[in-house]
Amino acid sequence: MFNLILFGPPGSGKGTQSEKIISKYQLHHISTGDLLRSEIAKQTPLGIEAKILMDKGNLVPDEVVIGMINDCLQQHQNAAGFLFDGFPRTSVQARELDNLLQKNQTCIDVVLAMEVSEEELVKRLLKRGETSGRSDDINEQVIRARIVEYQKKTKAVLDHYAEQSKVVSVNGEGTIEEIFLRLSKELDEVQARHAC
Ligand code: AP5
Ligand code: MG
Repeated sequence: MFNLILFGPPGSGKGTQSEKIISKYQLHHISTGDLLRSEIAKQTPLGIEAKILMDKGNLVPDEVVIGMINDCLQQHQNAAGFLFDGFPRTSVQARELDNLLQKNQTCIDVVLAMEVSEEELVKRLLKRGETSGRSDDINEQVIRARIVEYQKKTKAVLDHYAEQSKVVSVNGEGTIEEIFLRLSKELDEVQARHAC
């Protein structure tokens, strides 16, 4: 199994690059943001609760997303590997993910961390907000709140995986194809010395 975390702040291109990576490397894509938006669309109790937090740019509780990840891992036990997008987002989530993977005799192989300036993030998300219908893209205040949440809670995930020497930083600015080439180069190197 090959497991990758595609890491980066809101708007860094995790979703965009995930699509290209899963197709090239045959991984199963798990995006907690997409899973939560699907719960919102179905108007489940979980979705209704999550929407209130997401609309303010706040994270949803750890136990909610960990439960969703656990279900997803169970449902796709035969996957060649997983690409985690937007998860883990707190140290608690990172530790829990390690535990869940360990139970399945596997682990995270690499964390590819995309680096993008704050102004570029805000520009990308405001532009998407013109057409996406995503309520957390519509105004700059909520976009900046998401970035603050990232700085306060999510960046710590990098320290967790840096201790395991699994973090590789990648320049997340440029064209989508340029960034994909940078990510692919790193992935090819990690796969060549695949450890888990
Ligand atoms: P989530 O859905 O994960 O959103 P996010 O991380 O805030 O960021 P985005 O998905 O908006 O950005 P992205 O990095 O995927 O970039 P994208 O490729 O879309 O989470 C949403 C919310 O759900 C959270 O705020 C939280 O409330 C909750 N949540 C989710 N997971 C959670 C968890 N684990 N724990 C707790 N709460 C959780 O690109 C962005 C835009 O830029 C697009 O329009 C794209 O076309 C464009 N773009 C991409 N690449 C480029 C490029 N190279 N040049 C120019 N434009 C580009
Ligand atoms: Mg995304």
